[in-house]
Amino acid sequence: MTRNLKTAGTATTEKLDLEASQTLLAQADCRLLGDDHIPSARYTSKLFLDLEEKSLWPHTWQIACRLEEIPDRGDYYEYEVNTESILVVRQEDGSIKAFANACRHRSTRLAQGCGSLGQGGIRCRYHGWSWAINGENTFVLDQGEFSDEGMKPEDLALIEVPSGVRWGFVFVCPDTPSTDLESFLAPLEPMFEPFGVDIMRYDWYKSTVLPCNWKVSLDAFVENYHVPATHPQLILDHNAYEYLQLENGHAHNHTHKGREGTFDSKLVERDALNEREQLYRAVSDLADQVNAIYTDREKFVAAGLRKRPLPEDLSAGVDFVNALHEYAEGAGIPLPKVSSSDTKYLGVTTIFPNVVVLTSNGNLLGYRARPNGDDPNSCLFDVFSLRMFPVGEEPIVEREELEWTDSRWKLVLSQDFSNMPHVTAGLRSRHSRGYKLNRQQEMAIMNTHREIDNYIARAHEQ
Ligand code: FES
Ligand SMILES: [Fe+2]
Repeated sequence: MTRNLKTAGTATTEKLDLEASQTLLAQADCRLLGDDHIPSARYTSKLFLDLEEKSLWPHTWQIACRLEEIPDRGDYYEYEVNTESILVVRQEDGSIKAFANACRHRSTRLAQGCGSLGQGGIRCRYHGWSWAINGENTFVLDQGEFSDEGMKPEDLALIEVPSGVRWGFVFVCPDTPSTDLESFLAPLEPMFEPFGVDIMRYDWYKSTVLPCNWKVSLDAFVENYHVPATHPQLILDHNAYEYLQLENGHAHNHTHKGREGTFDSKLVERDALNEREQLYRAVSDLADQVNAIYTDREKFVAAGLRKRPLPEDLSAGVDFVNALHEYAEGAGIPLPKVSSSDTKYLGVTTIFPNVVVLTSNGNLLGYRARPNGDDPNSCLFDVFSLRMFPVGEEPIVEREELEWTDSRWKLVLSQDFSNMPHVTAGLRSRHSRGYKLNRQQEMAIMNTHREIDNYIARAHEQ
């Protein structure tokens, strides 16, 4: 069986021989069942984790870091996924290069974490081999004592891997990418381009280890179906969203009313809240319970509107966004004016394979998940809030490492995290049927899995 897979933004099509890879998946109980049923083994089995390690991670673009984490020449960020480590280095001319983080002598990791190489280059701790920040080898101790084979300058240079920058994010691909970065990201342009994501900066950035598969953790943030049970205090209209399935495994959920049109009118009636009060409560709840998407700034603006009558021709949401712009102008925040047709793309976006972002005017909440070593039931999980700051007042933010049970995650994220070990435990039951998905609200989850299968099929062909 063959299938044409169109690659977004290009005229190319690839012929994928899916049959062999589907047989392999079926043997491992990992074959997708219909369009709304995902077997447990795709989350819990070591075999599927290994398939992802071989087929997916080396060939897909991934967000390694933000540009502001490596602002100066010689600054570096180590991005780890599975057993791979990639060193992202800011170059002399401000551009970015990414290298396999392994010495060309005996493969020692060259740098860890995030920091600065100073004015020098990269030096291996073990025997002192050295490189310029562009990857060229500059020193080998006692070079004349090595055979000539594998010792030409191109053999000694660090292995450069594909990298690129978009919307302030540094993307890397640890081996050959399935497509070029521009084509890969093309379907996401409406979700990022209008909103000034490139000039946003970290407000906070926290990391943890979650007791679940990397996909289980992301699945908790791509749908609002869980909101009534997991976050009963939020007045979010969980089924107001529309799902857009995008090319290359990406996905998006939004409402045509924009983010400020998603509050639950049933709750307004129940709590006798007028539209203004409903908006204030929704904004202040997220500011207090997440400190992202809405923050103290938006809470302040929403509070200022409470006593003013709502103009007849405006919804509370539109009036609030207008007031936000007025505030931003006064505060020197370069909040972009967004057309109403673009505003609808403020919502929930999956950047395949492992990042989910929630956007609002001047704010972005991001989640990133990666496998944790060879344990399918554990993942590295990062959460970050980006905000638009007054020009020149952008803070320098250090990433915090917290236990997932730490109260500093605040209420909403703690509620989400508290589900994770129970999902893992249930998926590991012999009687688990995996996921049976809601076809309106949970299809972004299936979309990710289908795209992973495309990567598995490609790798199987090679
Ligand atoms: S392992 Fe790096 S110089 Fe020897
Ligand atoms: Fe949640």
